[in-house]
Amino acid sequence: MEIQLEGQLFSSVSADAVVTYVFGDKEARFEGTVAELDRALGGKIKPLADSGEVSGKPLEMILLHYPAGVAAKRLLLVGAGKPEKFSHAELRKIAGAALRYLKSRGVKTFAFLPAEKDRTPAAAQAIVEGLLHADYESDKYQTQKKNNKGIDRVSLLGFPAASRAEIEAAVERAKIIGESENFARDLINEPSNRLTPRMLASRAEAMAKDSGLEIDILDEKRIAELKMGALLGVAQGSDEPPRMIVVRYRPAQKKTGAPILALVGKAVTFDTGGISIKPAANMEEMKTDMSGGATMLAALRALARLKPSIEVMAVVPATENMPGGRAQKPGDVQIAMSGKSIEVINTDAEGRLILADAITYAKKLGATHLIDAATLTGAIVVALANVHVGAFGTPREFLDRVLESARATGEKMWPMPIDDEYEEMIKSKIADIRNTGSGKGGGAITAAWFLKEFAEDTPWVHLDIAGTAWRDDAKPWSASGPTGVATRTLVDFAMKM
Ligand code: BES
Ligand code: MN
Ligand code: ZN
Repeated sequence: MEIQLEGQLFSSVSADAVVTYVFGDKEARFEGTVAELDRALGGKIKPLADSGEVSGKPLEMILLHYPAGVAAKRLLLVGAGKPEKFSHAELRKIAGAALRYLKSRGVKTFAFLPAEKDRTPAAAQAIVEGLLHADYESDKYQTQKKNNKGIDRVSLLGFPAASRAEIEAAVERAKIIGESENFARDLINEPSNRLTPRMLASRAEAMAKDSGLEIDILDEKRIAELKMGALLGVAQGSDEPPRMIVVRYRPAQKKTGAPILALVGKAVTFDTGGISIKPAANMEEMKTDMSGGATMLAALRALARLKPSIEVMAVVPATENMPGGRAQKPGDVQIAMSGKSIEVINTDAEGRLILADAITYAKKLGATHLIDAATLTGAIVVALANVHVGAFGTPREFLDRVLESARATGEKMWPMPIDDEYEEMIKSKIADIRNTGSGKGGGAITAAWFLKEFAEDTPWVHLDIAGTAWRDDAKPWSASGPTGVATRTLVDFAMKM
């Protein structure tokens, strides 16, 4: 799909469709770009608004064919909802929903005309991110592609010629971010027989080479030498050896004393639960238990191209979690790389174990700030459903800055508590800590607390993406399947840091 800025007027642009959006709620607001369009069409839209057919309610789709006065074959009016509730997050969805709507109808080219106040670089970035996100399909393994259709070209109309350079830079940024998000989604979609820890490592290697990034892949021997007992404990039940994948971006000019950000991502390529085995229903979804790792690799892919001024590394522990004759068992004690002893109460609480050693290793590599992302707990789904990412962290001010990036990039994240009372729940009678909370409730919080025991005093944010990394049902702006959530936030955060 080609995306380009176009200087032509909406009336003369040659495309299969012209797209714009209408504000309103129950009643369309007839002003600005839409009013202008109406004049070009000889007043044909206004009556549709008056009769209530065009209302402007969120993502309403009104398709007009062969509109007189416009060279394009179709005019698509997308509902934009109340102007008070409108933001770039809505704009991203409008662009995406328009693309999916037109694609399903066999349209090949369209022009997108934003409202006057949305002709800025930031708006252009949101639009293009929305287009790339929406164009993604999970059909790699279908021999008969369900959606044989595809958009060849999208033109962006109306942007002021005076700011062309900035707009073009914003479009370029959006392409990098959107393509990186889709890189994560491709990895998440892979079934576990086609993405073992070793295969994930070679995909990361290819990405690093392609992006000019440093990569170091620790095999099981080096993992053992470094005494990563928590990662090894999880991996020992599988015939597939674990990997610790480290990808590094270093800025051209390194300032002394500058922060070093580590992005730590859980990559359990399949989570059966181990000896504490999961029920069969929906177990296939556990191929997505490497979403955090995929997201961190995707963020590095984007940052290699956007070139922030600080050093950033991705640290991705990769393993399967399997039952078997060599698998760890409930009650086993493992010694983590940091030296802390862990009583493994439940082998299905494996994500925190592998992250513990990844966090310790990131600090050893010089990280001054840590952000981890993980499909860590079912409890976060209970708390926030599949709407918000659960965001934990200390100090609060560091967490707030990550949440600010989430808001700026239209990714929903919600702050969760990490008060000292929860620490009691992971005390063990025989080891330093246990890997599940004792007592009832707070499962997402005790999991976060477990990670904090390894982050210690290093500023740290934990993103529990168990509810948000995967979408069971398609949205108008996004296919069902992997969402790539947190990629945009992390890239924005690293750029601002
Ligand atoms: N990978 C799962 C969490 C998960 C659940 C991800 C649903 C995506 C969707 C994680 O390893 C897990 O099994 N967590 C357990 C922890 C429990 C044993 C303390 C859980 O949440 O049930
Ligand atoms: Mn598990
Ligand atoms: Zn898991």
